[in-house]
Amino acid sequence: MPSWKDFRTALTALREFEGYLDAHIERLRRGGGDNSILSAVLQDRDLTDLEVRMFAGLLLGAGFITTTYAFGSAVATLVDHPDQLARLQAHPEGWPNAVEETLRYHAVVQLAARLATQMLQIDGHTVREGSTVFLMIAGANRDPALFERPDEFDTTRANARDHISFGTGIHACLGAPLARMELNIGLRALFERFPRLGLAGEPILNDSTLLHGFKHLPVSLGPARAPLSF
Ligand code: HEM
Repeated sequence: MPSWKDFRTALTALREFEGYLDAHIERLRRGGGDNSILSAVLQDRDLTDLEVRMFAGLLLGAGFITTTYAFGSAVATLVDHPDQLARLQAHPEGWPNAVEETLRYHAVVQLAARLATQMLQIDGHTVREGSTVFLMIAGANRDPALFERPDEFDTTRANARDHISFGTGIHACLGAPLARMELNIGLRALFERFPRLGLAGEPILNDSTLLHGFKHLPVSLGPARAPLSF
C-alpha cells in the first residue's frame, strides 16, 4: 500500500489528468475533431462523457508507459549484451525474436489479478469462489519448465514468444501488435542510427511493484549514422 503522502500525490495527479482529458475532449468537440480514435468515438455518441474519459485514460495509461518501460529495459539489456547486439546489427532479421526475448526477460506488467468465479484446485491449492488471485506474469516468463536457462537473456531463443507479458485469455493486451511494432521499429532504428550507443551512468529503476521499468536511463549516443528509411 502506498503511504498517505503518495496517495495524496497520486490523487492530485489523477485530478490533473482528468482535467487534461476534459479539456482535450472539449477541444475535439469544439474543433470538429481530427482523425484520431478518440474523435471517432466522440462522433459515434454512444458512450457517456464518463465512459469516454475512462476509455481515453485506459488507452493512454495502458499504452504509453508500458511501451516506454519495455523500450528502456530493452535498450539497457542489449547494451549489456554487446555480442548479441552486434549480431542483430549485422542480421536485422533477428529483431522480431529479440523483441520477444526482451519482453520475456523483463515483464513490464509484473502481475495481473483475477476474481475466481467458482471454486477451483490449482496444483494442490484450493482457490475459493470470490477470492482474488494474483497472476505473477514475470515469474511465468521465467518458468524453467517452459524456458531453458530462464534467467539467461538469449535473443535467439526458439520459444521466446511463449512469454505472457501481454497477458492471456479474453483480457490479453489490446495493444500488443502496436507495442511489438513500436519496439521493432524503434530499437532497430536507434541502434542502426547510433551503433555505439552506451550507458552513461547507473540506470535507476522505478519503485513500482506492478510496472517494471527505469525511471532514469542515462545513455551516450556516440556518432550518428544516416537515418534509416523503413
Ligand atoms: C510493451 C507494452 C505493453 C505491455 C507489456 C502490455 C501488457 C498488458 C497486459 C499484461 C495486459 C493484461 C492485463 C490483465 O490480464 O489483467 C494488458 C491489457 C491491455 N492493454 Fe496492454 N501492454 C502493452 C502495450 C499496450 C498498448 C500500446 C496499448 C494500447 C494502445 C495497450 C492497451 C491495453 C488494453 C486496452 C488492455 C486491456 C484489455 C482488456 O482488459 O480486455 N497495451 N496489457
